[in-house]
Amino acid sequence: MRVIHSLAELRAALAGSATTAFVPTMGNLHEGHLALVRQARQLGSPVVTSIFVNRLQFLPNEDFDRYPRTLARDCALLEGAGCDIVFAPDEAELYPEPQTYKLTPPAVIADLLEGEFRPGFFTGVCTVVLKLFHCVQPAVALFGQKDYQQLMLISQMTAQLALPIRVIGSPTVRAADGLALSSRNAYLSATERAEAVALPLALQAIASALRAGATDLAGVERAQVDALRARGWQPDYLTVRRRSDLRVPSTADLTGRVPLLVLGAAKLGATRLIDNLEFDR
Ligand code: PAF
Repeated sequence: MRVIHSLAELRAALAGSATTAFVPTMGNLHEGHLALVRQARQLGSPVVTSIFVNRLQFLPNEDFDRYPRTLARDCALLEGAGCDIVFAPDEAELYPEPQTYKLTPPAVIADLLEGEFRPGFFTGVCTVVLKLFHCVQPAVALFGQKDYQQLMLISQMTAQLALPIRVIGSPTVRAADGLALSSRNAYLSATERAEAVALPLALQAIASALRAGATDLAGVERAQVDALRARGWQPDYLTVRRRSDLRVPSTADLTGRVPLLVLGAAKLGATRLIDNLEFDR
């Protein structure tokens, strides 16, 4: 496995490759990332993983400075998972001058949910992913479904800009108790880690209530928001949406066969966790 820090070296290494499989990450890798790399091995070659903590997608009050940088450990894990090339540029390499040209996704999808609570987040994500796509020029790129809205925006961006890249979303990898794996789980204290499973359980409770025929969507969501709050969480949202466009389902959608999911974001102590669950009725 090669670890490459410069764009010129990356381009030379990938020259002529039409089947590159790409896994973009911000490092501090966990089993969810490694599952993407293993899946990438089945879909293309060489497998390239990028590790870049992207300042553009952090708000001023967020954890950019303390986001864990664990390159040596990440590289060891990637080698074990079958990665061929790690692209780990520093900021001066990827943003040699201020990135004033940005990709701003449409508000109708980017200003909801995560975009409402993290304004500008998806502009930062789309800008860096588009730039990384230009650097790596993959045939296929893989993203986790835990970041459902991110996956949807990147899929739409890739299609609308006619990029010749197949974007694949892979199922969320969970710990034994059901907590979705996330780099930010490392911030949780032991007590918080034990409590964190309350988030996926709240999503499951909402899905179960709707599966059982509940029609008061707002009431069902509010009950779980209140329950999390009572346990010491600060929920941003727990909400049922249509899978196709992340809009709130109508009553007809709820009673019909429209594919739905429930998404949640909540802070436990200083750590903000997100998760989602697709469900059928
Ligand atoms: O999901 C992530 O880790 C990041 O948002 C991504 C896609 C690597 C862009 O920085």
